[in-house]
Amino acid sequence: MKPKESFIIQGLAGKKSLKGKVTINGAKNAVLKAMSASVLFNGPILLENVPNTEDVKTMQAILEKLGAKIGWEETSEKKYLKIDASKIKTTKIDNDLAQSMRASVVLTGPLLSRCGNVSFPSPGGCVIGSRPIDLFIKAYEKMGAKTILGKDSYNIDANKTGLNGTTIFFDLQTVGGTETLMMAAVLAKGKTILKNCAMEPEIVSVAEWLNSCGADIVGAGTTTIEINGTSGKLLTPKMPYVTVPDRIEAGSFIILSAVCGEDVYIEKCVPEHMEALISLLKDSGINIETGKDYVRVRNNKVSNSFKAFNVRTHEYPGFPTDLQAQIVTMLTQAQGESVVFETIFEGRFKYTEDLQRMGANITVMNPREVMIKGRTDLKQVHEGEELRAHDIRAGFAIVIAALLSQGQSKITNIHLIDRGYEELEKRLKSLGAEIRRISS
Ligand code: EPZ
Repeated sequence: MKPKESFIIQGLAGKKSLKGKVTINGAKNAVLKAMSASVLFNGPILLENVPNTEDVKTMQAILEKLGAKIGWEETSEKKYLKIDASKIKTTKIDNDLAQSMRASVVLTGPLLSRCGNVSFPSPGGCVIGSRPIDLFIKAYEKMGAKTILGKDSYNIDANKTGLNGTTIFFDLQTVGGTETLMMAAVLAKGKTILKNCAMEPEIVSVAEWLNSCGADIVGAGTTTIEINGTSGKLLTPKMPYVTVPDRIEAGSFIILSAVCGEDVYIEKCVPEHMEALISLLKDSGINIETGKDYVRVRNNKVSNSFKAFNVRTHEYPGFPTDLQAQIVTMLTQAQGESVVFETIFEGRFKYTEDLQRMGANITVMNPREVMIKGRTDLKQVHEGEELRAHDIRAGFAIVIAALLSQGQSKITNIHLIDRGYEELEKRLKSLGAEIRRISS
C-alpha cells in the first residue's frame, strides 16, 4: 500500500498569476481500454502517448496477473508500453486490484470472448454513485453467456457456444458498456449491433485502432455500432495505439486557468473534444483562444469577474460529468447565481462540503442539483480540518479551490488525484503555483 500523501498549497488569494505552458497527456479513459484490448491479439501490441498514472499501473498489474508480459520500450524519439497478452493463464481478475478501479470491468469483454469465461468482483473505482454493471451482464447473456453470481463476484460462462453476435440496445448510454461490448463482439461469431451507444472520442480512438489491426467496427462515435466478429480468430498487431489526448485533463487545466491564470498555454490537446466547456466559458466572458492542438487562456489582471451560468452534465458531446466538480468550483467566483445539474451520477457532490467549509455559498438542492451563489472569497480552513480528494476529478477541483483561496491548504487522499493526473504538482509549479507533496 502506498504511503498516504497530501498536497500543501499556498493560495493565490484571488490573484490570476499562473502563467506558462502545460502539455496534455494521453487520455486515461482511452488507454485503459486499449490496454484491455491487448487480450484480443495473438501477439504484443505497442501503445504510445501513455500517461504514467496510477490507473495505468493498476491495469498493468491486473493484466500481468492474467499472464500478460508488459514493459516500457524506448526508441530515440518515442516511448512505448508493450503488452503481450497472447498467453492468458487465468480468466479470474484479481479482486483487490479490480476493486480499486472501475475500468477493470472493461477487461471482461475481451476475456469472455477470447477464453469463453471470466470471473471478477463488483468493480470499484471512484465513489460517485452506485455504478452497477447490470447493462454488461444483460448484454453478455443476450450474446449467449450464462452468469453465476458469487457472494461478491460474477462468474460468466460462454464456453460451449462462445459469444454469438446479436442486437443489443443499451438502456443507458454507458461509456464502459459500449467499449466492453464492442471489444467482446470483435471475436464473437457473426454480427453484433450495439444501439444507444456512448459517443465519447476515446471510444472512436480505440475502434479506429482495432480496425487498423483487422477488426471490422463501423459507427463508433455514433449511437449505433456494428461489429462483424472474427469467430474467435485473434487480431494481429499491425499499428501501435496512439493514445488520444486527455480532454478531461485539458478541460481541468482550462478551468483552473480561467480563475487562476494570467496567460496559460495548454498544448497537445484537441479543442474540438471540449466544445461544450469552451463555448460555455467563452459565453461567460473568459478570454479563450483555440488552435488545432492548443488552448490559450488569458485574463487581464483588472476585471476579476465573469457572468454566472448554468451547467447540465450530459453524455458526449454534452458537458462532461468529469468536469462537473471543477466547473462548480469555478462558479463560486462568478457574479450571480448558477445551477449545476448532474444527469449521469447520483453521488458526485461530496466535494461541495469542502468548498462550503472554505466559505463557498453552495446549496445541494438534491443528489443531482447544486446552486452556487458568487462571487465569494474562498478562505483557509481551520488547522486540522484538512481538505480531501473525494475522487479523481473532485481532487483536481479542490486543488483549484486551494489555489483560489487565501492562506495555505492541506489536501489529503491525493493518491486519488495521482490515478488520473500525472505529476500534477510538478506541472502546477511550472505555472508558478506554490505546491508540495508531503507524506501525511
Ligand atoms: C466512464 O465511466 C469513465 N471512466 C468515467 O470517468 C466517466 O465519468 C463516465 O464514463 C461517464 O462519462 C472510465 O472510462 C474508466 P458509464 P463508466 O457506464 O463507463 C450507469 C474519471 O474520473 N450504468 O458511462 O463507468 C452508471 O451508474 C471517471 O475518469 C448502469 O446503470 O460510466 C452511470 O450512472 C469517473 N449500469 C451511467 O450509467 C451499467 O451497467 C453512465 O455510466 C453501466 C452504467
